[in-house]
Amino acid sequence: MTTDYTPTGAWVGREGRADVAISYRACRPEDIERVLELWRNGAPGGSTNNAAALETRLVRDRELFLLAWEGDALVGCLIGAWDGWRSNMYRLAVHPDYRRRGIASELVRRVEEMLWKLGASRIYALALLDSPEAGPFWTALGYAPDSDIDPLVKNLRPVD
Ligand SMILES: CC(C)(COP(=O)(O)OP(=O)(O)OC[C@H]1O[C@@H](n2cnc3c(N)ncnc32)[C@H](O)[C@@H]1OP(=O)(O)O)[C@@H](O)C(=O)NCCC(=O)NCCS
Repeated sequence: MTTDYTPTGAWVGREGRADVAISYRACRPEDIERVLELWRNGAPGGSTNNAAALETRLVRDRELFLLAWEGDALVGCLIGAWDGWRSNMYRLAVHPDYRRRGIASELVRRVEEMLWKLGASRIYALALLDSPEAGPFWTALGYAPDSDIDPLVKNLRPVD
C-alpha cells in the first residue's frame, strides 16, 4: 500500500517547473461569472453551463473545483468530484492564450492529489468529443478508454 500520492503521465518530469506566474485556488461564489466566461471563450459544449448549476456545485467539495489565475485573470478551471465511491473530472478548460504551458496538467495533478487523499481509487474524466485537444491531453496524463464501462446518460431536467 503506497503512502504517498504518485502522479503519472505528462506531469512527470515537470516537478518544480510549474509556471510561478500561475496561482491555484478553489472556486468561490463570486468567481462564477468568470468561470462561465472562460468556458464561453475556451471550452465547447457543456450541458449545465449556468450560474445556478455552479452555485449548487459549490455547496459541497468546493476545494475540488479548482481555478488557475494569472494575477486577476482567470486562465483555467477544473471541476473534480468525489461521491465516496468513484471520482470524476468535469469541464476542464484553459484560456486559448495560455495553452501548452502545463496549466491543465497542474490542475489535474492537484485535483488527483486531493482525490487520492480523500480515498479515491479511480477517476473518470469526461472528455469533450468536440475538442481536438481533449483526447491527446487526457492520454498524455495517463487516462484511457474504459474497456468494461460505456457511460450512459439520462437528463432529469432540460439542459442548456
Ligand atoms: C485540453 C486543454 C485543457 C489542455 O490545456 P493545456 O494547459 O494546454 O494542457 P497542458 O499544457 O497541461 O498539456 C499537457 C500535455 O497534453 C498534451 N496536449 C495538450 N494540448 C494538446 C494539443 N492541442 N495537441 C496535442 N497534445 C496536446 C501534450 O502532451 C501536453 O504536453 P506538452 O505540451 O509537453 O506536449 C485545453 O486545450 C483546452 O482548454 N481545450 C478546450 C477544452 C477541452 O478540450 N477541455 C478538455 C476536455 S473536458
